Amino acid sequence: MEHAHEESGMHRALSATNLTTLGIGAIIGAGIFVLTGQAAAQYAGPAIVISFIISGLACLFAGLCYAEFASMIPISGSAYTYAYSTLGEFMAWIIGWDLILEYLFAASTVSVGWSGYMVSFLKDFGLSIPPQYTAAWNSVLVDIPKIGWKPLTEQLSASLSASGIAVDSLPHVTAILNLPAMFIIAAITILLVIGIKESAGFNNVMVIIKVFVILLFIGIGFFFINKANWHPFIPPNTGEWGHFGWSGILRGSAVIFFAYIGFDAVSTAAQEAKNPQRDMPIGILGSLGISTVLYILVAIVLTGIVSYTFLNVADPIAVGVDAMGKGLFWLRPIIKIAAIAGLSSVVLVMMLGQPRIFYAMSKDGLLPERFARIHPRFKTPYYSTILTGSVAFVLAGILPINILGELVSIGTLLAFAIVCIGIIFLRVKRPELERPFRTPFVPLVPILGAGICLIQMYSLPLDTWLRLIIWMAIGILIYFTYGLRHSKLKHPDHPKK
Ligand code: ALA
Repeated sequence: MEHAHEESGMHRALSATNLTTLGIGAIIGAGIFVLTGQAAAQYAGPAIVISFIISGLACLFAGLCYAEFASMIPISGSAYTYAYSTLGEFMAWIIGWDLILEYLFAASTVSVGWSGYMVSFLKDFGLSIPPQYTAAWNSVLVDIPKIGWKPLTEQLSASLSASGIAVDSLPHVTAILNLPAMFIIAAITILLVIGIKESAGFNNVMVIIKVFVILLFIGIGFFFINKANWHPFIPPNTGEWGHFGWSGILRGSAVIFFAYIGFDAVSTAAQEAKNPQRDMPIGILGSLGISTVLYILVAIVLTGIVSYTFLNVADPIAVGVDAMGKGLFWLRPIIKIAAIAGLSSVVLVMMLGQPRIFYAMSKDGLLPERFARIHPRFKTPYYSTILTGSVAFVLAGILPINILGELVSIGTLLAFAIVCIGIIFLRVKRPELERPFRTPFVPLVPILGAGICLIQMYSLPLDTWLRLIIWMAIGILIYFTYGLRHSKLKHPDHPKK
C-alpha cells in the first residue's frame, strides 16, 4: 500500500480493551440519552426497537468493512486512508473532507447536549447559570413557567402559537454564548494534547460509569414493564410518510443512526494501538456489538415502562425513571451523571479522531506539514488537536444543535457507503493482499451496507443535502487550489516547509 508514514512518533499504548472502550466511548451518547424518546414519540412508537435493529444492521455491515480495512492498513486516518489506498487521492480527499462533518461537527453537537445535561444537573443542586450563557448565540430562550428556559425551536414556537400564546408575551432573553459547551471542548482539548494514555484512562472511567448506569436502568426497569404500553407495537401510519407504520420505523432508524456513529473512530487510533492488525477488528466490532445490545434493551424497557406518547422530551430516560414511581427518584441524578459522562467521552473520542485524520492527510501532502506535528514530549499530534479544539470551541458556543446533528449523520453515512464500496474495489483490484480480517459474504455485505446507508441518506431533508453539497464544493475548491499542488503523489520529493 502506498503509504510512507508507518512510523509516526506517536505512542503505541492502546490494547484491545482500550480500543473497545474507545469505541463504546464514542458510540453511546446523545443518541440514546436524547434522541431515542423523540424518535419513538414522533415516528416509530414501541417499534423504535425495530428501528434500532435496522440501523444496527447497517452499521454492522459497514463495521465489517471497516474491520477488514483496519486490519490491512493499520495507519491512522480511518476511511480517508482506506480511500487513498483504493480509490485514489481525489476520492480520499473527498472522504477526508467529509469526515470533518462527522468528527469535528459531532464533537460540537454533542458538547451542546452535554451543556444541557450539565445545566440541568447543577440546577438540581441550586446552581444556576444565567440562561444567556447556556445557549447558542442569537437564539431566543423563552421562560416557560415551571419548565425553565427553553430554546425557541420551531416546534416549540408552533405549539405555542397553536395554543394562542404569543412569544412576546412570555419572559424571554436572547442568548449570547453556550459557555458550558465551550468549557467541555476546552477541557478535553487540553487532555488530548497531554497524552493518549491519559485520554484513554479518562475515557475508560466515563465508559464504566455510563455502561453501569444503563445496565442499572435496564435491570430495574425490567420489573416495571407494563405490556399494555407495547400495544400497538407498530402504531398505524397517520397518513403521512414517516409518521408511524413501517415508514415511521424507517424514518426512526435514520434518526437513530446518530446513536451508532463512533465505532469507526477506533480506526483513527491505529498508530497508537499495540497490535493494530489483530486488535482493530476487535475494537470496532466489539464496541459496536456491545452498544447495539444495550440500545435494543434500553428501547425495549423504555417503551415498556412508559407510553411512547410521553417520550417527546430531551431526557427520555429520566422520564422512564419517573414512571417507575417515587421510590426510584434517587436514580434521576444518577442518570444525569451517566449522560454527562457519556457525552464527555463522545466529545473526547471524536476530538481524538479528527486530528489523526488531519495527520494522515498532511503526511500525504494534502494539508500543510504542520498538521502532522507531533509533540516531542507528549507524543500527540498537538497542532491538529489544538486547531480542532479551537474550531469546535467556536462552533459549540454559537451554533444551535439542530443545524449540526443531521449534517453529522449525512456526512457519516456517505463515508460508510464509500468504505463499503472500497472493499469490493480492493478485492477485485488487489485480491492477493494479505487480509488479517476478511469481511464475510463479499460482495453481499458491502452492497447491503452501502445500500442501507444510501437509503438512510435519501430519507434526510433537502436542507441537509444542500449543506452537504456546499461543504463538499468548498472541499473540492481547496483540493484544486492547495492539495493538488502539494500532493506527495505528484511531488514525492516536495521540499519540507
Ligand atoms: N453516537 C454518538 C452519540 O450518540 C455520536 O452521541
